[in-house]
This record gives sequence, C-alpha cells and structure tokens, in this order.
Amino acid sequence: MAFPEAFIQELKMRNDLAEVASSYMSLRRRGRNMVGLCPFHGEKTPSFNIYTEDPHYYCFGCGAGGDVISFIMKIENLDYAEAVKFLAQRAGMEIPETGYDDSMSRLRKRIFEANREAARFFYRSLYLPVGREGLDYLHARMLSDRTIRRFGLGFADDDWSSLTAHLKSLGFSEHELVAANLAVQRRSGNGVFDRFTNRVMFPIIDLRGNVIAFGGRIMTDQKPKYLNTSDTPVFKKSANLFSLNNAKNAGTRTLLLCEGYMDVIAVNQAGFQNAVATLGTALTGEQASLMKRYADEVIICYDADEAGQKATARAIPILRGAGLLVRVLTIPNGKDPDEFIKSKGADGPEAFKAIIERSGNDIDYRLQKLRAAYNLDTADGKVQFLEAAADLIATLAGPIEQDVYASRLCKEFEIDKNAFAAQVKKRRGKRSREMERKQQQKIRAELSGRGDRIDKEKAKQPRSSAAEEALVAYLIRNPDAAGMISRELSPEQFQNSLMRRYYTYFLGRIENGDDAMMNVTADFTADEANKIYQILSKHAGVADTRQSLDQYIKVIREESVRLKRDDVGSMSGEELNRYLDQLRKAKK
Ligand code: UTP
Ligand code: MN
Repeated sequence: MAFPEAFIQELKMRNDLAEVASSYMSLRRRGRNMVGLCPFHGEKTPSFNIYTEDPHYYCFGCGAGGDVISFIMKIENLDYAEAVKFLAQRAGMEIPETGYDDSMSRLRKRIFEANREAARFFYRSLYLPVGREGLDYLHARMLSDRTIRRFGLGFADDDWSSLTAHLKSLGFSEHELVAANLAVQRRSGNGVFDRFTNRVMFPIIDLRGNVIAFGGRIMTDQKPKYLNTSDTPVFKKSANLFSLNNAKNAGTRTLLLCEGYMDVIAVNQAGFQNAVATLGTALTGEQASLMKRYADEVIICYDADEAGQKATARAIPILRGAGLLVRVLTIPNGKDPDEFIKSKGADGPEAFKAIIERSGNDIDYRLQKLRAAYNLDTADGKVQFLEAAADLIATLAGPIEQDVYASRLCKEFEIDKNAFAAQVKKRRGKRSREMERKQQQKIRAELSGRGDRIDKEKAKQPRSSAAEEALVAYLIRNPDAAGMISRELSPEQFQNSLMRRYYTYFLGRIENGDDAMMNVTADFTADEANKIYQILSKHAGVADTRQSLDQYIKVIREESVRLKRDDVGSMSGEELNRYLDQLRKAKK
C-alpha cells in the first residue's frame, strides 16, 4: 500500500528541498541552483547540487541523487515510510489513514522494539545474581553505577537461550530476533540461540534514541575481545558512531573521536560528554560528514600505540575532507584515554583536560611525524624533510594557512622564504594537475558507461544508451511532448532495458495526467531512482530544442535497426518485413 500521491505532492511542496537540506549543511546559491559540500561523502570542493526548478539534488562526486524524501532517507538513515513520516511531522501534516506500512518498515519497527527490550533485559541482569561477574568487571574498570545507568550498560549471561526465551515470551518471532542479530539460526535449521553470551553489553543508540545495535566485551583475554551487532535493517556500522546521541547535547561544537567504547565512557565519566567512537571499523567519510553536522572541530584521541597512530594518519584527511578542523591528542606513555585517566586517579579529569588543551592541530602533528622520519642533523636529511613538508603544506587550501606554516619552517631552518614558496607552488601545481586528470578520467568513464553499477548495459551500447538517456530526460522535462514522442518511438526500439522501463513508466504517468517525477522514490529501487536523478542532473544544462529531440530519436532508431541487423538471419518473413519497414523509416 502506498501513500496517496496527492499527499506526497503536498508533502514535497511543504518541505522545500533546499530548506530541508540547509538544516544539515551549508549551501550557497549558484545561478538558479544551490551548491555545497556533499553530506554523503568527504570532499573539499563542493560537488553537491540542488536544482531548485524541478527540485532534486545530485552529487557529481559520489553520484548520490534524489528528491527531498530520499535526502531524508539517506541523511537520517530512515526507510521510505519513516522518511515520509519524518517530513510530515516537520511540516505539521497528518499522515493519511491509508498510510503505508510495508513489511520492511514493520520489521524495522520490530527490531527497534526487540533491541530496546534486550537492552532492558541486559541492564536488569547486571544487578541480579547471574550478572554479578559483569558488574564486578565494570566496577573493576572504575565505572560508577551512575555511568553504567547513563550508558545503559548490561550483561549477557552464559545461558545460550535466556535472551531469546525472554523476547519470545514478549511476542517476538525467531525471524525478528535473527533479523535484529540478537539471535542466530542453528546450523541444523532448528530454532535459534542468543548471539551474545557471557559479555558486558554496550547498547548503541541512534540520534532519535532508538537502540540500533550492541557491542559486547568478553571479560577475559579470549578473542574476539568485542563482538558487535552485524549490519541489520536498522544498523549500518560504517554510518553510525557510538555515543553521538549523547555527545550532540554536550553544548560544544568540538567532538573527541576515540577508538572504542571504553574510552568514550571513561572520558564521559571524567566530565567530557562530547566523546564518540567508531564501531570497530576504520573511520569513513560518512561518519565524518555525520560529525560535521554537530561539530566544527574534532580532536582525535586514538591510542598512542602504532595502530592508533596509523589510524590517526588515515583519519586526518577524511575529517578535513568533511570540512572539519582537526587536532590530535598526544597521550603520554603509549596509553589509551581510558588507561590514561585511570592512571591519574582522582586527578584524571584535570590531567585529561590538560592534554586536550595541549593538543596541536593536524598540520603540527604531521610535521612532527615528518621530523621524526628524517635525520635533521645532516644537510641531506634537512632537504628531504623540507621537501616533504612542502608537499604537506601544498595540500592546505588556504593561502594564509600555507603562509603561516611556511614562515615558521623557513625561520627555523633559516632558508629563503621565496625558495620555499616556489617549491610549495610547484607541488600545488602538480597536485591540481593530478586531480584534474583524475576528474577527467572519471567523466570519461561515466560517458562510456564503464563502471556504471546500476546500468550494466550502457557500456555495451554507449551510443544508443546516451541517446535513450537524453530522451528520457527530455520527456520528463517536457511532458507536453509525450504524445508526439510516443508516436515516434515505441518502447521496443530502446536497446537498454532500464531506459526502456523508464520510458514506459514516464509515458504512462504523463498520459495519466500525473506529475512524472512525483513518485519515483517509491516506485523504483533506491539505485534506479538515483540513476534517474543522475540523468536529469547530467542534462540540466542542456537546452531542450526540437533539433536535439529529433537527433535523439534518430539515433535511437538507427541503433535499434543496426543492432537488429545481426539477427536478420534468424528472422521470420513477417519479422523481416517489419524490419525493412523500420529501416525505411529510420532512413527518412
Ligand atoms: P581496543 O582493542 O583498543 O579496545 O579496540 P579498547 O577500546 O581499549 O577496549 P578495552 O579497554 O580493552 O576494553 C578499540 C575498539 O575496536 C573495536 C571496539 O569497538 C573497541 O572499542 N573492537 C576491538 C572490536 O570491534 N572487536 C575486537 O575484537 C576488538
Ligand atoms: Mn582500552
């Protein structure tokens, strides 16, 4: 069951895409359109466009595109029905009675409920005799009962069916528990068992307060140390951060990015609410963009060990790429934040505050790492270091920022500022040429259809596909030409099956008197809908003249005939006649 289209129409009218989007990102006007840094991938120069005429967005960097509903789906991590509800609420609209509640939305709702009940169950167990071991463990790690409650920590006992039995008694089905990854199907196929046993449990809560997943730590030295919920219909590891729900209310636009659950909690207990952590994976651009919504600056608080330093080096460009300022915390003696705070006893909070205040920015951090990599006692080493430093400074976007670091180095090493500036300029030129080359490669690949994940046929028939795409875009933008176009071209003349489906779909809607694009997000898969917006954006600057339309039609006809030529041998008499007829028409 779908939402009535009149409702979707009003919903879109009352939720202006540019206005909705600007509450998540900053946009500037460029002509009739708006541009900004894409919230869906890390980037330094804006390639995210909002087209205000027939409102949609498209990012030329990552290829994300859609309408206001799909924007909310992506940025709030919601499914279609949830995004519609979200926007209805935003605009103060009632959801119609016949509202859509498809099976996926229902399942997601059940998973949220099951997770909430599981979190309650784990928390309760902690204070029962069966949870003694877990409570002792958390206390031994210096967590107070107040902290335990604040984070809703819990305990999964060593009985492989206690949670499953409890949730079943509350009416959850085995299918729902497996979908939530709270239970695992037995290999024999008979029944399920608990996913988490004998671990202290950390619930992961999203920005709306839903429990979306868990991490569980074993209390011994066994492996794996942490077990995390796998990706489920409500949880994508790479797009969430532990404790962001809590950190976003800290009243500061600085976030402390830690490596793990225990660090975040220990840092909180020391009085810093603004800590978050990735969930057992390396930082992604998606997580960086998520942080950018709540912060201007991120202080990386990774472990001082080698793995932590490597992760720091990886995280810096990702965070910068999302437009965040970056600082790096240096923790003495190879510790992680949790160990550091604990080692200082009652002075932990003060001591942590002091190292935060001392933390330098990412450029200082990287220059310091470079220094350590060269022998500065030799002339050779100095030259190599300064060249590497020039490379680094060349990556900085602002000329003032470049000048500050360049001046400092020149003074320190007593070298000529102009010589150093020339080196930086050379490196910058090389970098921008490289970037330009990459960009061109990408455009070439896109035009040829190579690497098109959604439209796999395009690479095989680039000429017909390009004309078919252009025609689909023309049709959407010029619905009054639909009658004429449909007389000129039948769907069978389309070579590309995806374009043929779009053509049939849009013709049908227009002939019905419906707005062509109104329901694309509901009627196609996310990828297929995305593709339509990609096509529209690609043709946004193309003038829709009668000549260009004639050209598309001509190419589609020629190609449909040319491609059939290979089959001529196997045609029946009637097919052959039809083919010859088409050939004559195409020549005209
Ligand atoms: P660490 O190994 O640094 O653990 O992993 P930690 O945070 O210091 O934990 P404690 O202090 O020993 O309890 C950092 C993060 O990597 C993920 C977890 O999210 C953890 O918090 N991780 C680690 C896993 O997901 N699985 C593992 O087996 C280990
Ligand atoms: Mn630790």
